[in-house]
Amino acid sequence: MRLLFLGDIVGRSGRDSLIAELPGLRRALQLDFVVVNGENAAGGFGITGAICDEVFDAGADVITLGNHSWDQREALVHIEREPRLIRPVNYPAGTPGRGATLVESASGARVLVVNALGRVFMEALDCPFEAVERQLDACPLGQAADAIVVDIHAEATSEKMAMGHFCDGRASLVVGTHSHVPTADAQVLPGGTAYQTDAGMCGDYNSVIGMEKDEPLNRFITKIPSGRFQPAMGPATLCGVFVETDAGSGLARRVEPIRIGGRLRSALPEI
Ligand SMILES: [Fe+2]
Ligand SMILES: [Fe+2]
Repeated sequence: MRLLFLGDIVGRSGRDSLIAELPGLRRALQLDFVVVNGENAAGGFGITGAICDEVFDAGADVITLGNHSWDQREALVHIEREPRLIRPVNYPAGTPGRGATLVESASGARVLVVNALGRVFMEALDCPFEAVERQLDACPLGQAADAIVVDIHAEATSEKMAMGHFCDGRASLVVGTHSHVPTADAQVLPGGTAYQTDAGMCGDYNSVIGMEKDEPLNRFITKIPSGRFQPAMGPATLCGVFVETDAGSGLARRVEPIRIGGRLRSALPEI
């Protein structure tokens, strides 16, 4: 199978470039399944039902979230009706929606997608390792699922890397989100799980992690808020990872970073 994961869509710039590029990318890379992190898709904060529809129509199969899951209140209701939209699995019991979803691809493959939030320099939540373990146990790779994608939404590179090794041999891909900057460590881990510490964002990189620079700079320098954070509106770079899996085991044969458009040097796997 050929899988694509794209990191956090930030605002209109990220959405516009995803909508423009993803349909062609699906064809060019002969993708079987696409997962996109959408936690910053609505003006940098959360996601709406209408934006979910746009992202699915462009060719995403599943949308994951993160610490901004509920910034748009309508997501609390929409997620109950939309099995292809998931939020972190380690939120408190009773949180709306689900933290994992098993979706059939167009070609009939069963793909499990799990979203988890890290705890280092973030909110105190249930243990992401225990929560992911339960999902992997319930739906083993190569048996109940033909591919498994884990989005570990976390601040600390160490926590994300630990999750990669924790899942090694049991997931097709473990990829980090939330820090909005692509890391240069794409690799297939020893047990066969593809891994990259952060996918990077789909947004304008002439920014502070996707936001217009003035207010973040002001807050760092003066510590006095003087306005709202607004997404930067320049051309976005779509950032993510491409993975090829073995049909029998579901493990990764190959992983490559993807960067398209905007300011970052482009990277596109050869097919
Ligand atoms: Fe984000
Ligand atoms: Fe985040």
